[in-house]
Amino acid sequence: MSKVKTAVIPVAGLGTRFLPATKSIPKEMLPIVDKPTIQYIVEEAWSAGIETVVFVNGHHKSSIEDHFDYAYELEDTLSKRGKEAVADGSRAIADRGAVVSVRQKAPLGLGHAVLAARPVIGDAPFAVLLGDDIIRPPSDSEPAIGQLMEAFDRTGKGQIALMQVPLSEIHKYGAAEGEKDPENAQSFHITALVEKPPPGTEKTDQAVVGRYVLPPSIWSILVETGEGAGGEIQLTDALDTLREQEGLMGCCFRGQRVDAGDKVGYLHANLLEALSRDDLKEPVMNLLKSMVAETNGQ
Ligand code: G1P
Repeated sequence: MSKVKTAVIPVAGLGTRFLPATKSIPKEMLPIVDKPTIQYIVEEAWSAGIETVVFVNGHHKSSIEDHFDYAYELEDTLSKRGKEAVADGSRAIADRGAVVSVRQKAPLGLGHAVLAARPVIGDAPFAVLLGDDIIRPPSDSEPAIGQLMEAFDRTGKGQIALMQVPLSEIHKYGAAEGEKDPENAQSFHITALVEKPPPGTEKTDQAVVGRYVLPPSIWSILVETGEGAGGEIQLTDALDTLREQEGLMGCCFRGQRVDAGDKVGYLHANLLEALSRDDLKEPVMNLLKSMVAETNGQ
């Protein structure tokens, strides 16, 4: 059993890249096939053994909490109509684990959002999962956050998920300099972390992906972290200080990551999910083939 029992999921963002869809609906509630995006993230945490999820939310986000609660009227009506399995599916989302919400009272950045969870978590290690990063693990593997939790339990060091990207893309990410551990292909020794290095200054193709396992010593560092890239309090800057003070490791996780916070990435996530479902794979493949044939014929 991992020592890590709690996960922080920041959900206070405005979702401006998906306007007007996100004008009155949180972007985390946009569906991937038939489940809200946030449910994939929370299910990843639960399946890794996380017991309590802490949402750091903002205004107009109560539908996220409602989604992880019972919907008595809906479930009762479904049961009365003989749709017991659908009603049970809805209740199961609420039964699986505890959900706590705290508010980020101003949009000051990811580091500031994570710090808002401190009163709930206190003196314990915790996981952080970012809602835009959907990660599908290989069928024989732990979910990505479980891989980081295992590495944290083994090493006692904070872990951040890393993925190789083309050098020309690294300016969109936190960038991790350093080198792979020659004895463990999943471990990366980090020598510097830079949030979104401007094009032309890139020194590494190792990008930070939104999964972290952190020791409680990060709290006092976050309190002291000032504005960084984009004028925001960046988690990456606090992590670089943590690295200097007590070490921090990269975890080159196994799994396919898609950026569901980007329009093409969101469509990709929908297609990947559809193609993984027995009832959808064939019709969606047929649809794609006919669309490609039509487009090529034009
Ligand atoms: C955040 C982090 C960044 C990380 C990225 C992964 O950036 O600040 O270090 O690489 O998530 O998705 P955002 O995409 O929220 O700007």
